Amino acid sequence: MNQFEENEINLPLTERKGKALRAESISESSIRRLVFTFYDRIQGHAKLGPVFSERISDWTPHLEKMCDFWSSATMRTGRYSGRPLPVHRGIPDLTAELYHEWLALFYQTTSEVFTESDAAIFNAMATRMAQNMVHALDLGQLCVPTGSGLDGA
Ligand code: HEM
Repeated sequence: MNQFEENEINLPLTERKGKALRAESISESSIRRLVFTFYDRIQGHAKLGPVFSERISDWTPHLEKMCDFWSSATMRTGRYSGRPLPVHRGIPDLTAELYHEWLALFYQTTSEVFTESDAAIFNAMATRMAQNMVHALDLGQLCVPTGSGLDGA
C-alpha cells in the first residue's frame, strides 16, 4: 500500500456518504499537535479547565489516550478501544454550554493544524460525538458553534 492509499479514508459520516475522503494532512504527528495544543488550551480555559483538572492529575496518559482515540477515529489504526460515553456520564457538571465551548475551541485548533478539508473531518466527528453525548446525557439542546467548515457552517 503506498502512502496515498494509506491516507485514503472512508469515514462513517452520513453527509459524506459515497465520497472517498482523501486525508492530506492527517498523520500521527499532526494528531499529536492537535491533541497537545487543544488540551493545553483546555487547561487555560476558565470554564473547561476546572472540569478536567478535577479529574486529571497526570496529563500524560490522557493525552496519549486522546492521540490513540483520534488516530483510531480518522486513520482506523484501532489503537483506542474505550467507551467515552460511560466516562462522560461519570463527570458531574457537564452542560450543553460546556460542550459548545469545547467544540468552539476544537474547531479553532483543527483549523490551525490541518488543511480545511481535513479539519472538517475532525470537526464532523467531534460534533457528532458531542451531539450524541449531550443527547444521551439528557443535557438539553446543543448549540453547535460556527466554524466547523461543514455544510457552510
Ligand atoms: C464539555 C465537553 C467535554 C468535557 C468537559 C470532557 C471531559 C473529559 C474528561 C475530564 C475526561 C477524562 C475522564 C477520566 O479519565 O476520568 C474525558 C475523556 C475523554 N473524552 Fe471528553 N470531554 C468533553 C467532550 C468530549 C468530546 C466532544 C469528545 C469526542 C470527540 C470527547 C472524547 C473523550 C474521550 C475519547 C475520552 C477518553 C475516554 C476513556 O477513558 O476511554 N470528550 N473527557
